[in-house]
Amino acid sequence: MSVPRPGDRYPEVISRSIEDRDAFWLDAAESVSWETRPTRTIDERSASEWRWFPDGRLNVCYNALDRHVEAGRGAEAALIYDSAMTGTRASISYEQLRDHVARFAGVLHDAGVVAGDRVLIYLPMTPEAVIAMLACARIGAIHSVVFGGFAANELAVRIADAKPRVIVTSSGGLEPNRVVEYLPLVQRALEIAGGPESGVETVIVRDRDAVPGSAADYADEQGIAWRDWAELEDRATPADPVPVRSEDPLYILYTSGTTGSPKGVVRDSGGYAVGLGWAMRNIYDFGPGDTIFTASDVGWVVGHSFIVYGPLLAGGTTVLYEGKPVGTPDPGAFWRILSSYGAKMLSTAPTALRAIRREDPELVELAKYDLSSLRAVYLAGERMDPETWHWINDGLGVPVVDHWWQTETGWMICANPLGIETLPSKAGSTSVPMPGFDVRIVDSKGEDITAPGVEGNIAIRLPLAPGALLGIWGSEQRFVDSYLSAFPGYYATGDAGHYDEDGYLFVMGRTDDVINVAGHRLSTGSLEEVLTQHPAVAECAVIGVHDELKGQRAAGFVTLKHGEEVVREELAAELVRMVREHIGPVAAFRDVTIVERLPKTRSGKILRKTMRQIVDGEEYRVPATIEDPTVIDALIEALGDTVSAPPTQAVSVPR
Ligand code: COA
Ligand code: AMP
Repeated sequence: MSVPRPGDRYPEVISRSIEDRDAFWLDAAESVSWETRPTRTIDERSASEWRWFPDGRLNVCYNALDRHVEAGRGAEAALIYDSAMTGTRASISYEQLRDHVARFAGVLHDAGVVAGDRVLIYLPMTPEAVIAMLACARIGAIHSVVFGGFAANELAVRIADAKPRVIVTSSGGLEPNRVVEYLPLVQRALEIAGGPESGVETVIVRDRDAVPGSAADYADEQGIAWRDWAELEDRATPADPVPVRSEDPLYILYTSGTTGSPKGVVRDSGGYAVGLGWAMRNIYDFGPGDTIFTASDVGWVVGHSFIVYGPLLAGGTTVLYEGKPVGTPDPGAFWRILSSYGAKMLSTAPTALRAIRREDPELVELAKYDLSSLRAVYLAGERMDPETWHWINDGLGVPVVDHWWQTETGWMICANPLGIETLPSKAGSTSVPMPGFDVRIVDSKGEDITAPGVEGNIAIRLPLAPGALLGIWGSEQRFVDSYLSAFPGYYATGDAGHYDEDGYLFVMGRTDDVINVAGHRLSTGSLEEVLTQHPAVAECAVIGVHDELKGQRAAGFVTLKHGEEVVREELAAELVRMVREHIGPVAAFRDVTIVERLPKTRSGKILRKTMRQIVDGEEYRVPATIEDPTVIDALIEALGDTVSAPPTQAVSVPR
């Protein structure tokens, strides 16, 4: 490593994690309750296959709930539910949560779910989401949570890939401008996935007063049993935790890659419990008696790690918030929650802060609340712009820490480890690497060029830290192709950046076609697949352009088939609707530009980077390999006619 390590205690911790790796992680494993304590740290089976704590056995749900109850802390709050959408506020103790989870685990068991089976969870931000996830973990089933903002098609892709035996859902979610009915979406997704051929046997529906639709409306359609959560729960016997091998999957979480088909990131049980547990103590400085408010969604990795598993493994209290940072009802929503529940930490995405800043730049709302319990704010999901960082850092007067990680890694690759020591934060930097993540800068040939100020691909030496992905569900080869083959011996993060002279890492952006819209990771490839389905569209390119609020937004450039005549606004509205129906509202796709031709190299590669630079008004250099330089001038001219379609309201889903 040719960059310095800042701080007094951090360098010692990181050195030990590298030089005495086994002892370091076996020590960390002491914080977990094992059914069989591991004697070995890691089994490195091949360049692409390693397993943490290979001889350990444990149950993650037991670690998240039962052991805290057994330690006499059953009456302490595990989960606080706060819905700005319905006004509901509830506190659920560890003992109550354990009982709910055990009973729902019994429901899953009665539905035939056994260890290793997949259960797909499609639930809004209500306690049932947490209960269903932990109930799967309790019986060794593998959950796969799908974010509510995805459309039926995306749900179907995940059903077809994960092949769940059971789907757990509810009548729906509540967005500020509409009610999102889930059941027609689930029904449509099942149709697309092949009905009973998909392997789904039962759909369990939690009836939600605020949203129409119940299991009874769909009873046994398509040869699949639709059942009511409450009725099944009444009949179920609570299930005990089932110990599993450390390497057994706890969950599959789908994320966007460069292609249209999402990748099912496979998370293990033991490595995750140890790695995430380490992060809670040493990065977040979080433990029993502490409360964390993570403003995200259980459909994302942030929700898995820092709404559900992290806080509960650590024995603290987690806040589950159904609402937005602004508009539900005002930009003081986050401050209200932090103050009402005495939260020590806020973890959120920069977009949320930009949304608050736009509505309340002077932080007038903040002054209404007592935030004396707040110790730190952690931000992730997208690049934090220095301006917003300064604004919130000055406004709150507590450390505002930008930390970097991915669905794949499960916890922070880089952070400021407040539980070890508070390093000075730097605007625009995600601070320093965490144990288990040996972060290097490599050139396009995979040569290590790590040195202060040198920009390149950010790669991590293998094996990855405990808790990081073990593979891609259903395809060993895809794991190798997606992450391990670009730079042999390294995991390719897909991000580019550099270290500075103090050893701080700056993550500057993706090197692939993944874009980040409001902290939501999307593949431009999957958007392009949708646009090309339009009968008038010949070719298209989707790029991520700068957006003041969401960091990036997707902009579509289309060429028309020969002889096609369209009304620009109509075409744009149709394309927006198609993206909404195929991918979902979360894509927030609005901008369409019709061009004569797309700028390409002579070998046919679309010049996306140049296009992005042009749209963002940055300096750009047209590569010498361009097929026809006049296309650039035509593109610039066409930008004046970009249609920014208004948001479509309800999505019609055929029943
Ligand atoms: N279910 C159904 N639809 C959803 C949804 C969900 N769980 N979450 C979002 N959507 C819909 C929204 O209703 C919106 O639909 P619309 O086009 O009909 O208005 C669309 O998806 C885009 O949503 P969003 O990106 O949230 O934009 P917004 O304009 O509604 O809100 C912010 C802007 C900044 C308030 C919002 O993006 C936000 O809270 N961001 C925080 C980011 C975050 O937590 N990211 C998690 C990763 S760490
Ligand atoms: P996801 O898997 O959805 O969490 O997205 C991971 C990607 O989001 C990373 O590869 C980065 O491109 C981006 N990202 C996450 N956190 C940060 C951060 N703190 N700074 C810059 N980019 C980030």
